[in-house]
Amino acid sequence: MRTRNFVIEEMDIKLKTNFIGTNFIFYDEVDSTNEQLLKDTSISNHGTVLFADNQVKGRGRLDREWISDKHNSLTFSILLTENLSANNINLINLAASVAVAQSLENLYQLDVRLKWPNDVLIKTRKVCGILVESVSKGDTVERLVIGIGVNVNQPIFEGKFNVPPTSIRKEAGKVSSRERLIAEILNEFERILKKIRKDPDSVLNSWRSRCKMIGERIKVVDGETATYGIFEDIDDKGFLLLNDRDGVKKIFNGDVTLR
Ligand code: BTN
Repeated sequence: MRTRNFVIEEMDIKLKTNFIGTNFIFYDEVDSTNEQLLKDTSISNHGTVLFADNQVKGRGRLDREWISDKHNSLTFSILLTENLSANNINLINLAASVAVAQSLENLYQLDVRLKWPNDVLIKTRKVCGILVESVSKGDTVERLVIGIGVNVNQPIFEGKFNVPPTSIRKEAGKVSSRERLIAEILNEFERILKKIRKDPDSVLNSWRSRCKMIGERIKVVDGETATYGIFEDIDDKGFLLLNDRDGVKKIFNGDVTLR
């Protein structure tokens, strides 16, 4: 398959947002879109999107790397600088995964599932990873960067992965427009962000309805520590509630697998 450059105008036609992506910064290549947006403090517009057609040192959660394919992936980061409180950051994190899931359902009618905290899967395979990073002064979060990587048109995956990967092309059986997809994700993300303030329960419920692990026996690994129990629910901030022998524990971070 011939790969092709990203065409901003094709995204623009489909973008219906008021502030997300209205400032769109395009790079042919960067190390990491998250890193670039965190360090370049001259960029401060709420809703700025920094996109790279090729990301060569992508960062993943828990110090992992995120490998993407030039011209075949979406690798971008969204900057939020307004209405941030320590209280809603984790909800924004979940909201980003709901926005991606909703977009994949809208455009390709795929069986999309969410894995805590923010992996987007098609059935059991990972199609999108999200890394949220922030810059704070004292108790105030000044910059929140939501980095999203989507496997769009990769035909094959080589290497060892924590969760087996897939791409939209492999699942939908056809090459997809990256421009159309990013526009849909940004439209959905803005819509869901507004809901966080007005109706946070509906965002939590949208996440819950796509998570097939709630009620199941799981293992949570955080560094050297493994914890076992039943995935009871998520709380009002989106943290995992794990029921083990000693009662219900709140989990803030880690990798979840079914037992
Ligand atoms: C994960 O699943 O571990 C999270 C992966 C996040 C990858 C995206 S790609 C765009 C942005 N820039 C980065 O360096 N990482 C995120």
